[in-house]
Amino acid sequence: MQFPLFKDQTTHDTNYHQEDRKNTLRDILSSDLDFVDNINVNSRHYWHSFPAKFPPQLPALFIKYLTNNDAVILDPMMGSGTTLIEAGILGRKSFGIDIDPLAILNANAKIKNIDKRKVEAYLNSIVINSIKRCNDEPPILENHLTERFDSPTLEFIDYWFSKRIQLELMSLLLEIEKIIDDDIRNILYSVFSSIIITKSGGVSLAMDLAHTRPHRVNDKKVKSAITEFSLRTRKIVSTNNNELKKCAIIIEGDAKNIPFRNEIADLIITSPPYANNAIDYMRAHKFSLVWLGYKITDLKEIRKKYIGAESRIDINFEEYPEIIREKITLIDKVNNKKSYAFQRYCYELLHAIKEMHRVLKRDSPCILVVASSKICGIDVETHTCLTEIGRMIGFEIVGIGKRIINRNRRMMPYSKEKSKSKIEDRMHQEYVIGFWKD
Ligand SMILES: C[S@@+](CC[C@H](N)C(=O)[O-])C[C@H]1O[C@@H](n2cnc3c(N)ncnc32)[C@H](O)[C@@H]1O
Repeated sequence: MQFPLFKDQTTHDTNYHQEDRKNTLRDILSSDLDFVDNINVNSRHYWHSFPAKFPPQLPALFIKYLTNNDAVILDPMMGSGTTLIEAGILGRKSFGIDIDPLAILNANAKIKNIDKRKVEAYLNSIVINSIKRCNDEPPILENHLTERFDSPTLEFIDYWFSKRIQLELMSLLLEIEKIIDDDIRNILYSVFSSIIITKSGGVSLAMDLAHTRPHRVNDKKVKSAITEFSLRTRKIVSTNNNELKKCAIIIEGDAKNIPFRNEIADLIITSPPYANNAIDYMRAHKFSLVWLGYKITDLKEIRKKYIGAESRIDINFEEYPEIIREKITLIDKVNNKKSYAFQRYCYELLHAIKEMHRVLKRDSPCILVVASSKICGIDVETHTCLTEIGRMIGFEIVGIGKRIINRNRRMMPYSKEKSKSKIEDRMHQEYVIGFWKD
């Protein structure tokens, strides 16, 4: 997509006047942000499914027109790493943070340039050896399964994966673990995960991993895990992945406590989770994380740390923006538990936005992409709540853009609200908030 009105800042080396950059931000926010076509999108973005991803063109737009080659870009809730990949393509250094172990694994796999011939060579031996193990050594593979996983984790695996698939996945894992090259091992772990985490539950017996509570289908026709793994890896090596010009650094951490000194980022672009845990990342991600060494009990603890998770924390909101107080009062009349959850969500995002303000350089933009949610039938206007939090912290509001997202293209929360038409069911609006730190 071309935006001839904006000046590409890639090689800009003098001080681009602050007011000009603010005006550019204002113009971008009022331009068409729907990105209906996917032309020239780097195939890395599609290696692994992830809920509520950015369209890659969105971060690219802000990076290209608001920063130059020396800039540092930060996404403190980076999810699948869309911002980092686009920063790499445009030759900017970037940092990504996330609390979700699968987000960390996938983003790490995607931000490196790959040696395709090496991956192919590894793939060939993985496939041959895995098939051989499954044919010749089922009892040995069974032993690996019982020795490797504790009983709650094994119970989970037994419930959600057929015996045949368990043996195939175990044999693939034993082969991937042998790889010494960290980058290639990471990519192959990510491919391994991608054959499980799909909307239809991949090689597991689960259906609807993306939207609803997954349910088990005993007679689900499950394809061979080894074949799926091979096909997906081949697809990755055969597609064009544009070389990344600059590296990214990924940190497993909490956006409420960014491990950086003050004023290091030239641009922050990020999208927080939906309010009230509308997308339960861990519910789907645990299907592959158990295989990658996480105990089911540990995953329950990690789940409590996501912004807006359901568990109780100490909330000390000294001063709510008016709109948040109003929404909480409205929800509280219907459901006390849900009003608490929304309070926690806003409180945690207040801390995250404070951290963003701290690590952002002066005269720099911070972009927050967020969709609204309905809680107990009440539109909580998440974008307005977060805009007011930003204002309270000291950001100037340069503008708020709107974009339509297509439910068919993106994994989104399951909607219980009845809508007027099938088209409306698939379409959804989100907001692009443009903050500025003076
Ligand atoms: C809407 S997704 C981001 C998607 C991302 N823009 C992309 O393109 O893939 C929100 C992300 O926030 C992360 N998250 C939730 N709580 C967090 C926290 N306390 N610190 C950092 N990340 C968190 C989730 O794990 C999830 O990956």
